[in-house]
Amino acid sequence: MRRLLLTAVLALALVTAFVSARQRAIRVPSPPPQASGVTFNKEVVRLFQQNCQSCHHPGDIAPFSLMTYREARPYVQLIKEKVLSHEMPPWKPVDGCGDFDAARVLDQKDIDTIVQWVDRGAPEGMAADLPPQLVFDSGWVLGQPDLVLTNPEPYTPPTSEDIYRCFTLPTNISEDQYVSAIDIRPGDRETVHHVIAYIDTTGESVGLDERDPGPGYTSFGGPGFSISNANAATLGGWAPGARPVMLPEGIAMSLPASSRVVLQVHYHPHAGPAKADQTQIGIYYSKQKPKQLMRILPLINQSFTIPPNEASYKVTAAFPIPLPVATHLWVISPHMHLLGRKMTVQAALPNGTTQCLINVQDWDYRWQGLYRYRDGVALPAGTRLSLTGARGGQKSPLITAPTNIRATFTSCRITG
Ligand code: HEC
Repeated sequence: MRRLLLTAVLALALVTAFVSARQRAIRVPSPPPQASGVTFNKEVVRLFQQNCQSCHHPGDIAPFSLMTYREARPYVQLIKEKVLSHEMPPWKPVDGCGDFDAARVLDQKDIDTIVQWVDRGAPEGMAADLPPQLVFDSGWVLGQPDLVLTNPEPYTPPTSEDIYRCFTLPTNISEDQYVSAIDIRPGDRETVHHVIAYIDTTGESVGLDERDPGPGYTSFGGPGFSISNANAATLGGWAPGARPVMLPEGIAMSLPASSRVVLQVHYHPHAGPAKADQTQIGIYYSKQKPKQLMRILPLINQSFTIPPNEASYKVTAAFPIPLPVATHLWVISPHMHLLGRKMTVQAALPNGTTQCLINVQDWDYRWQGLYRYRDGVALPAGTRLSLTGARGGQKSPLITAPTNIRATFTSCRITG
């Protein structure tokens, strides 16, 4: 048997040799295909895997997939344009202010590689160069959450006005939990403007829901009930462009036993007929009891008036008191609706120095990210936090609150 196999292998090798000899004989000599120069299969797909595919795969937020050559090919000119202009991958904080984790930035060498590839006619290259495909299975960016909560009944918002609707969802957890990350999936991305996940530890939201007909209840501003546990007020939120971030090990948010999560959804009418929405939250538990608890602090101005056609109007906000305890700042998230163009947030330390926390010069409503500091920013007690939001040439009719400009911090402090 072994002999037979050997002979067969030998025969095969001979046949192969014969075929390639024949091919060599009849083919006009030419350089091997794509031996030099950038190809999709060799360099470009690897850059797409590292920098683009997390959003550009079927079912995620980007408008087309960049998983395969066939899918990417129709967009090559647009890809060149968007990487040259630094619009893709999307990343808003300006360099030199804030040291952020997982910055989505291509370096110049990578931009040159992509541009060179497009300018050479975007060749595919050799199949043998392709790396294994990345796999995106569950649709949740961070993998399957430990707990998924959904409003059981879809809600159809009015088409004529903005509405803030709250949905109270039981967690049914019997023990205190600690949360490392949340992810929110809006049902109808065209109307869901933003979402805040409040925690209700007393069940008060159930009564509010019962008194308001239809799914959920309407409440502008807060969630309509008092927050009794300052350590468990909210789990954060979602706005267009936000990608979930995991808190560092040892730091988590508190979700007390048998609490409810109240999703406050801001619906903004869109053109066309009304659509039903069923927004979902995915919750990721911390694997061990945290050493520090995260709290969310909104630094917010919701009482300004922008006069008509005032193109460079500024809005500021500051906490009324300095930080009462030493704090580490981990995540920051600017928010300016369609009002502003620039935002800077700073910390004035008790020693008289000022630290820049984030600087956005090209605010885009579609990219309201959460930005996580690489090592946390240590802020001593007595630090004052403030922000300046500014318009950048937009003219407008009179704009008054309830629209607001804010930065949301997540910070942590030592627990007992
Ligand atoms: C964090 C998610 C994310 C990442 C990472 C990302 N994109 Fe996008 N991309 C989007 C979304 C969402 C849109 C549509 C909205 C927009 O244009 O901002 C988009 C749009 C585009 C467009 C079309 C723009 C238009 O005007 O139609 C191109 C081209 C593009 N992306 C290329 C890339 C390339 C190349 C990379 C990697 C180098 C990349 N993107 C990384 C989410 C992402």
